Amino acid sequence: MAESLLRFNPASLHGLSERLITSHHEHNYGGAVRNLNRVEQELSGVTAETPPFVVAALRERELMFRNSTQLHEAYFANLGGDGHRSGAIDAALGDAYGSTAGWETQFRASAMGLGGGSGWVVLALELDTGGLCTIGSGHHTQALAAGLPLLVLDMYEHSYHLDFGAAVARYIDAFFANVRWDEVNRRFERGQRAVTAVHG
Ligand SMILES: [Fe+2]
Repeated sequence: MAESLLRFNPASLHGLSERLITSHHEHNYGGAVRNLNRVEQELSGVTAETPPFVVAALRERELMFRNSTQLHEAYFANLGGDGHRSGAIDAALGDAYGSTAGWETQFRASAMGLGGGSGWVVLALELDTGGLCTIGSGHHTQALAAGLPLLVLDMYEHSYHLDFGAAVARYIDAFFANVRWDEVNRRFERGQRAVTAVHG
């Protein structure tokens, strides 16, 4: 399996079972890592004689597994907290969305829109503008080109079906109860420095 990056005891989350978290981490995240490594291995063997359609297919899979790996790492790393928003990101969300409750309503609605299917909801910092935006995507490859993920919610069914069946709203409640806002703040502060560097 992929090396564990869980920063919390998987049995300690509120309303998300150890079985769900460990299965998700080992099989879905671990699978993305293993597949990414295999695709990179295949790409390292590409020559001028490799048919272009073979390279195109490998590049497509590479993007999918790389994004899946990175989004899963961000997802697991923003779990394990108490769900209480605080710090600079709390104030910034209020400024950007009128209120932090208004932002949460939008984020939750975006997640509900992916219920029963697959995708990601991401609160991102746009590195070109420095603005906050909420992204809903139906696939690993539909990422914001210049967006730094601050808060990531996995909406693939494998992330909740074991515990909640089709009760998507209960999964979203459980996600918010376990968010590590100190990690979101850490990403936000690093992202703001990156925005300054980009525009320096
Ligand atoms: Fe996942």
